[in-house]
Amino acid sequence: MQNQRPNKTILITGGAGFIGSHVVDFFVNKYPNYTIVNLDALTYAGNLENLKAVENKDNYTFIKGDITDEKLVNEIFSKYNFEGVIHLAAESHVDRSINDPLAFVKTNILGTMVLLQAFKALWQDNWEGKRFYHISTDEVYGSLGETGLFTETTPYNPNSPYSASKASSDHFVRAYGETYGLPYVISNCSNNYGPFHFPEKLIPLFINNIIEKRPLPVYGDGNYTRDWLYVIDHARAIDLVFHEGKNAETYNIGGFNEWKNIDLVKVLCDKMDEKLNRKKGESQELITYVKDRPGHDLRYAIDASKINKELGWKPSVTFEEGLSETIDWYLNNEEWLSNVTSGAYKKYYKEQYL
Ligand code: NAD
Ligand code: TYD
Repeated sequence: MQNQRPNKTILITGGAGFIGSHVVDFFVNKYPNYTIVNLDALTYAGNLENLKAVENKDNYTFIKGDITDEKLVNEIFSKYNFEGVIHLAAESHVDRSINDPLAFVKTNILGTMVLLQAFKALWQDNWEGKRFYHISTDEVYGSLGETGLFTETTPYNPNSPYSASKASSDHFVRAYGETYGLPYVISNCSNNYGPFHFPEKLIPLFINNIIEKRPLPVYGDGNYTRDWLYVIDHARAIDLVFHEGKNAETYNIGGFNEWKNIDLVKVLCDKMDEKLNRKKGESQELITYVKDRPGHDLRYAIDASKINKELGWKPSVTFEEGLSETIDWYLNNEEWLSNVTSGAYKKYYKEQYL
């Protein structure tokens, strides 16, 4: 990887989470001349073990802190003269948002507002060369029917407290651009999968349950569709949008890779049987249909042609390759898995499924 970009100090929020840790790793390695500050509250979803590979690098600093804490954010801003931010910190799990929506309002809306205020104050005398990059989700567009794709002009129509809070934060970022001139860019990505994915979400939860021969709880009839992207391809897209994206634009990022949940689960079961030397069909017997998620969006699918045409991005791995690498990673990192599935995780799992 070559880098001829000028020195910069950038803030990455939520860098100890699933996607954030891949973004931190990518930027720290690709841009040794950048100073990268990772601000993360280390909630249940944040894990410094995700960052072992970069923790001692000279161009990397970790700060444990909450983005809703104005005093702390101001202290950090008086120390670092940030020229950019990649804002990933969020409450990110739809099921948790159904149980505790206010936590999502606090971090996703209020936290984004605290950052917007701090960057406005820091940059308002000179917006030149600055960039507020807000990481969002395709879930803000609501649900598709059997056909069609989300484009950048699809109206927002969020259905869950999670997607409503993300939609709100997207609107505030845009409003700061329109009202105050804040240079921003937003991307809306489809479902990610890959290493370091917290095992409450579909793919890592099911990998873990297959390893442990526990039931695989498929919501409703399993005919819900998601568009899956390998997390490292998301990190590559974030690099491109951060450096080459146009101000005040939105970019949709997706894997051109739609799967009905039940079909994906069956493929996952078969692949796991192969890798674990189990009898073909053994893991599929674990599939259990359970009560549906309230307000469950039927289908998400991204039209990623804008980022493809304008920035030349496309996924670098097929789903088959990405899924295989992901399973291998979980099988080779059982310690990581057992560390995150103890304590608070056990309590959540019991409340959600048992
Ligand atoms: P995650 O839940 O794995 O990680 C979130 C991180 O944010 C954690 O490290 C957590 O400790 C931190 N955090 C939470 N609240 C905080 C606070 N108040 N202050 C500081 N840090 C806080 O989430 P993820 O899956 O990595 O998602 C990252 C971003 O990407 C989110 O904004 C999410 O909406 C977006 N996104 C995720 C997906 C996906 O499939 N996971 C898809 C599209 C967009
Ligand atoms: P999830 O990984 O929570 O992502 P999102 O809701 O943000 O798309 O869920 C992906 C799909 O899998 C979604 O349609 C809900 C479904 N699902 C199950 O059927 N069972 C489960 O235990 C979980 C966590 C998800």
